[in-house]
Amino acid sequence: MNKTYLIRRLYNFHENILKRHQVQRYKSSICTDINEFIVYDQFICKRRSQSKRSVLVQVSSENSCCDLYSYCSKFGSIINMFHYQLAGSNHFVLTEFDDQSAVSSLLDQSTFIEESNIISVRSPFLWFRSSSSKNKSKLIEEHKFNFPFQTNQTMIEPNIKNIGLGKLDSLSDQMLLLLERTQLNEIGTRLRFLTAMQIENSLKGIFPLSKVLPFGSSVNSFGKIGSDIDLVLMDCKITKHKTSRLIFHGKCMSNSRTHIQRNIEILGDLIQLFLPGCSKVKRISQARVPIVKYSQDFIGVECDLAVSNETAVNMSELLYIFGNFDYRVRPLVFAVKMWAKEINLTNDVPGRWITNFSITLLVLFFLQQEKIIPNIQKLVKHADNNDVRITNEGVNCTFVRDISKLPRTVENKKSLDQLLHGFFDYYASFDFNTNAISLNYGKAINKPEYSALYIVNPLEVHFNVSKNMSSEEMERFRIELRNAAWMIESSLVNTNAFNILDLFKGYEINKKKDTLFTIQHQIRNSNRLVTIKDLFEDNLPTTEEDKRLNKQL
Ligand code: CTP
Ligand code: MG
Repeated sequence: MNKTYLIRRLYNFHENILKRHQVQRYKSSICTDINEFIVYDQFICKRRSQSKRSVLVQVSSENSCCDLYSYCSKFGSIINMFHYQLAGSNHFVLTEFDDQSAVSSLLDQSTFIEESNIISVRSPFLWFRSSSSKNKSKLIEEHKFNFPFQTNQTMIEPNIKNIGLGKLDSLSDQMLLLLERTQLNEIGTRLRFLTAMQIENSLKGIFPLSKVLPFGSSVNSFGKIGSDIDLVLMDCKITKHKTSRLIFHGKCMSNSRTHIQRNIEILGDLIQLFLPGCSKVKRISQARVPIVKYSQDFIGVECDLAVSNETAVNMSELLYIFGNFDYRVRPLVFAVKMWAKEINLTNDVPGRWITNFSITLLVLFFLQQEKIIPNIQKLVKHADNNDVRITNEGVNCTFVRDISKLPRTVENKKSLDQLLHGFFDYYASFDFNTNAISLNYGKAINKPEYSALYIVNPLEVHFNVSKNMSSEEMERFRIELRNAAWMIESSLVNTNAFNILDLFKGYEINKKKDTLFTIQHQIRNSNRLVTIKDLFEDNLPTTEEDKRLNKQL
């Protein structure tokens, strides 16, 4: 045995241990016990409380963190500090205190920019003036070991080709790694709630009861690093001081579309003119659900703000419940969503293609067929009085909120790779022409009306969630489903293994690549000059090799 061989063996051994350790770590991080399930309202409450005790401070570099820690400690006890850097060069530190009063006194003691053309706004977004570097190094020495500083979290979506998927042998482990590396992380979640709090605070003076809540993938457990934030402004009536004899005067509010559109215009102006970090504001008041679109530059994400869309908030809770029902739900949703993204079935801009929301519902429906998650009727049946919710829009959103109360016996023990293969197999032969998907019944029903894809909206059952999808996109979706099913199957039969990265290549993409390759090959091997006209008229020369291959076929 020579020395190089031994070193290589040792190196491989070490790599394998690292890999196994990594897989174990993310398995344990997501395979949570159902008894540890946090009810959605508690989860929202905890995150809102964190955001009220937090400020976001822009600093000149990571080295300023100790300095910032020392300065901010004067206002109260700091329990968490998260550093992140956006794509450009800006550094930020999300600083959490143990008490909200610390944030109030910090903001009271902060100063405004003195330039006359800058409007003075009080908000949790600040910047930190650096002190001399001599002081800084002294502080680093002083606080090196005692401040709660986390720096390993990113706000930028990682490139899936660089996260080490290829290093893992099993498809199930690859799916778990994909989830671990791309799901919304701690800092991403905190910053989403702080973004909501910025709007809420700016309206507090005049609307003390209004709340701005994140909904959609930011909170439904299916969110990805860098995904957009969906926000909703709601008037949350509370029955405090019921016996008081002094009552605030108010104005009549109508829930009419015109009224909502006017509110959207006003919110758009407020965000555009006064709120720091908010740019590229667009008022989309003609949409079915009117929204203000804007970009929060300190956080590096796009935001969609709606007014009173309580049904969507309940929908997020429903998805959150499913996402926490079984440890296999989220890795499967993430893998399928990533597949759809990588082969361009989904798109960041809304249009005639399938959405992430529809894909999530398709995966959930498949898991209902596998008896891994229940149908919605079962969740409704187990609801008690505290679970009753009728929204302002008149939609009944009653279903059991605490799933630990639900009798649960999941007999299906299939592994993630079996389920991923099963998903593609199931839909590759699904009759989308006549069937609609109903998560309420947990089975396919007859399509109530023509639509390329029909997914019954789980809360507003007369609507189709995927009404936007065109027949062409549906056809593309079907081809890709069949291709994925075939790819996994043939690879498992031939090699007993499958690399998830192969799935992200897609049939259509491969077809285009093949065509380009053929053209390239024909041009290179031809002995005549090829013109652009030849390409358009499909008049490419045939090489001797082509002729031979054609004969063989
Ligand atoms: N929603 C809905 N009915 C629809 C579309 C959306 O109830 N027809 C609700 C869902 O709760 C959805 C949320 O609005 O989760 C936000 O929609 P969208 O941003 O399109 O989907 P996300 O789930 O947030 O996914 P993504 O990460 O792509 O933003
Ligand atoms: Mg969204």
